[in-house]
Amino acid sequence: MGATAAERAPGTARRVPPGPRGHVLWGSMFDFQRDPLRFIRGVARDYGDVVRYRMGHMVWYQANHPDGVRRVLQENNRNYGKGTLTLGILKPVLGEGLLTSEGELWRRQRRLMQPVFHRRSVAAFGEIMTRETLAMLDRWRPGSPLDLAAEMSRLTLDVVTGALFHSHAGDEPEVIGGAVGVLVEEISYRFQFPIYPPRYVPTPRNRRMNAAQKTIDRAVYRIIREHRAGTDAEDLLSLLMHTRDEETGETMGDRQLRDEAITLYLAGHETTATALAWTFYLLARNPEAEERLRAELDEALGDAPPTAADLPRIPYARMVVDEAMRLYPPVWITNRQALGEDELCGYHVPPGQIVMVCPYVLHRHPDYWERPEEFDPERFAPGRSEVRPRFAYFPFGGGPRQCIGRDMALVEAQLILATVLRRYRLRLADDRPVEPFPAVTLRPKGGLPMIAEPV
Ligand code: HEM
Repeated sequence: MGATAAERAPGTARRVPPGPRGHVLWGSMFDFQRDPLRFIRGVARDYGDVVRYRMGHMVWYQANHPDGVRRVLQENNRNYGKGTLTLGILKPVLGEGLLTSEGELWRRQRRLMQPVFHRRSVAAFGEIMTRETLAMLDRWRPGSPLDLAAEMSRLTLDVVTGALFHSHAGDEPEVIGGAVGVLVEEISYRFQFPIYPPRYVPTPRNRRMNAAQKTIDRAVYRIIREHRAGTDAEDLLSLLMHTRDEETGETMGDRQLRDEAITLYLAGHETTATALAWTFYLLARNPEAEERLRAELDEALGDAPPTAADLPRIPYARMVVDEAMRLYPPVWITNRQALGEDELCGYHVPPGQIVMVCPYVLHRHPDYWERPEEFDPERFAPGRSEVRPRFAYFPFGGGPRQCIGRDMALVEAQLILATVLRRYRLRLADDRPVEPFPAVTLRPKGGLPMIAEPV
């Protein structure tokens, strides 16, 4: 079992982490699938900093200590690839986009794209964010129930579409938006049921997914062609098209642009939508926090829609969003695959093993959070985060592969929150607590029925 002493890297521990024994054939697979959130928190509570369990023929390691997470995502990140678990599902759709590429290609793309996602650059998209939000508010009928989760999903899709392609006049962006919705559903399904037949088997789900992807490809390539022919477009696609590698002078080809555009769609919209849905849910259940936020907005903002320049004057809005993502991190779990052996918090990790890191576990870990189940934005008051371990809170991941859209998502979440609250008060349609549903993102189970009342 594991490496022999001769194979082991110097200083690597031999200790095998504890964990549930599970069923003799399928290990803990069905316990995990039955209730993933309960399972990952339960093993952290029962077995500690690093847990090892079997999932059918695979062995998973789960890092539950901030030091272990830091080791995987940051300190020794070169030893951890994205792994077959994620890439098997995402790569056929996203190709070699930023989320799924590795090695030199990823490094080059990250270098190229980083400046485009810098805080100053994404502020320019603030106007699209508030404009799309106002368009949504105009569609709402005061007093009628609406599914806020679906509303946020559509809104963030419109925002990412606008940011990527707003210089494009045709109906392709809308067509892409519809097909992306299908892709998100199908990818979620495959993460839940990873043993789904491969894409070439013509099941109804595979046919649906393949058709959506064809639609997207056709439309994206057409937009790219037209952007190349034009000169003065200034959307995200154009920025990506014209960005040039400082070291090599290279720009992106059409295939790479297509992969990055679809990646940004998929990585950027459902994540931000779920963060917002939970934010509105938590505010509705915590009227004091909502009143405090309203008072801040009233004092800091005029009658015009908020802009990115207003954000430093509404710090409580940011604290509320941070706290919502603590309780309900949109990316509740992610994983890596060890390339060589490693040591996590004194435990041995052999090469090839899958290591899970779970924001949902760390964000509610009683060692790092007082009253972890309670909503309390004060945890993110200035100076408070600095005294916590860096990886007790990591909704955007960490290390070199930290979310490139972090600044954009935070600007977007705060602008949407402020714009909605200035017009409406959102009440829960009923008093029942809404459960989280762990799909690719942590969604509100069964949607989020709310009623919008004008303020
Ligand atoms: C609240 C919203 C968001 C959350 C919680 C979030 C979370 C994350 C996390 C946790 C990762 C790292 C995954 C890993 O290490 O395995 C990630 C990566 C990524 N995110 Fe986000 N994200 C959000 C919004 C966005 C937006 C708006 C965009 C772009 C429009 C975006 C684009 C990406 C990309 C391209 C990557 C891959 C980066 C790389 O590997 O270099 N995300 N995101």
